[in-house]
Amino acid sequence: MRTIEWDYPKNQLKMIDQRLLPGELVVVSMTDYRQVVTAIKDMVVRGAPAIGAAAAFGLALAALRSAETTSEGLRADLNKAMQDLQAARPTAVNLAWALRRVMTKAGEFHEDIYALKQTILQEAQTIADEDVQVNKQMAEFGAELIDDGDTVIHHCNTGALATVDWGTALGVIRTAFEQGKRVHVLVDETRPRLQGARLTAWELEQYGIPYEIITDNAAGYFISSGKVNKVLFGGDRMAANGDVANKIGTYMLALAAYQHNIPVYTVVPTSTVDLSIAHGGLIPIEERPEEEVLNLEIEGKSIFPEGARARNPAFDVTPYRFLTAIVTEKGIVYPPFDINLTQVCIQKL
Ligand code: MRU
Repeated sequence: MRTIEWDYPKNQLKMIDQRLLPGELVVVSMTDYRQVVTAIKDMVVRGAPAIGAAAAFGLALAALRSAETTSEGLRADLNKAMQDLQAARPTAVNLAWALRRVMTKAGEFHEDIYALKQTILQEAQTIADEDVQVNKQMAEFGAELIDDGDTVIHHCNTGALATVDWGTALGVIRTAFEQGKRVHVLVDETRPRLQGARLTAWELEQYGIPYEIITDNAAGYFISSGKVNKVLFGGDRMAANGDVANKIGTYMLALAAYQHNIPVYTVVPTSTVDLSIAHGGLIPIEERPEEEVLNLEIEGKSIFPEGARARNPAFDVTPYRFLTAIVTEKGIVYPPFDINLTQVCIQKL
């Protein structure tokens, strides 16, 4: 199944509970948009494009479950749901992008309330379907950058689980592998929530792609000792100049790769580009609960002294100058990013 999909017979939203992987593959069903808000906050669903699709389907749930009998009443319910969904996580711009797309569609529509509800669901479904197409297109472009025999460092989880299906940076690796290229992936664990060790490793197991997990702080060693050919990651929000917010630790990785002249590629759909933001310093960075850092146990015992405190920024910003190229569904973008990125984003497919 897809990471997230609509159950048409039951009119419910289904998604894989990513908190339980790799131990258990559990699919949860949602009937109320507030469950989707909680699922995004608690990271049942995570990854920028997957969050966007979840939010769009969340609006569909709000529409279908609304007791209002007029389109004005329904729109008021939708606005409330939109605000709650929007507030669930701040950094990934796909969330706002998807909500805006559904609300714009709903705003254009003035016929009966039943048809309005169906239009909202259809738009959410289109967003989900397009995500899969966009990822496959990015993967085709991006696979050209991968050479036979490459060792690639990958950060966080950018695979099928982070999207509706196929993935962004991991989608590129997957397509290159399917093309017959021998690729070896060094999987950054990605503390504190370990999306690399838990989710990326699990996906690579399914696809049969060779990999080894490394601690995040080993990346510099592998890069400096000439064992890495490329660095690949996704993005949660890219500013107009190419600065990109991605999972915490991406900045250090890109910095080390840049220092050693290793190509750094970020794979982002244009829905992740926020042209309203001039540079990465303006991107809101989510700070998550300190428990996510402090819940580390060995043999059932906390490894931290009692009373220890922690900080937990979930993302950092990699400046555009460390990026070799940006892979989008409309093609590969090279510097100067401030000019070329805008051109690519406004171009129609
Ligand atoms: O906190 P998460 O797990 O939602 O963060 C996800 C990432 O940072 C991914 O790398 C990003 O969404 C790009 S891949 C689709």
